[in-house]
Amino acid sequence: MHPIAALQSAWSLVVRRVEAVLPTCAELGVGLVPWGPTAHGRFAAAGPADSTELADLAAAVRDVARAHGATPSQVALAWLQQQSGVRGVPVVPIPGTTRVRHLEENAGALDLQLDAAELARLDRLSRPVGTGTVTGS
Ligand SMILES: NC(=O)c1ccc[n+]([C@@H]2O[C@H](COP(=O)([O-])OP(=O)(O)OC[C@H]3O[C@@H](n4cnc5c(N)ncnc54)[C@H](OP(=O)(O)O)[C@@H]3O)[C@@H](O)[C@H]2O)c1
Repeated sequence: MHPIAALQSAWSLVVRRVEAVLPTCAELGVGLVPWGPTAHGRFAAAGPADSTELADLAAAVRDVARAHGATPSQVALAWLQQQSGVRGVPVVPIPGTTRVRHLEENAGALDLQLDAAELARLDRLSRPVGTGTVTGS
């Protein structure tokens, strides 16, 4: 009935429920504005993970970050940014921070290009976490 320019929704490697509506967004030309895109900085600290699936995902994020000389939060943002090409929708993540250091780090994610194998690895490991099949996380 009325054109929608953009949808703001939680979307990250650990929260992926919005992906159910992405085909409709692609069809209607609706862009995505993901909040919580760094998963609240969750991958930045190498703390104890609350599930095996999350630990595996966090380890993969750190691996990919190391390979690029990047940070885990940058990898989380780059994965999300590159979903634009994968899903056929414009994606403009809005990370939140109280620190200039993190602001600059997060902006740097725009220069990080993950290859298809890296995207696929992160996709596979994040799916059980982000689509809610894991309990207690
Ligand atoms: N529409 C909605 O319902 C909705 C809901 C929630 C939020 N939002 C909006 O979405 C935006 C951001 O959402 P969000 O705050 O959930 O995003 P987020 O970036 O996933 O989470 C922010 C948290 O992550 C930390 N962080 C950010 N960058 C980091 C980095 N590079 N390394 C380590 N930690 C990092 C921040 O800590 P530091 O401060 O220490 O950097 C902060 O605690 C805001 O504009 C907010 O208003 C909208």
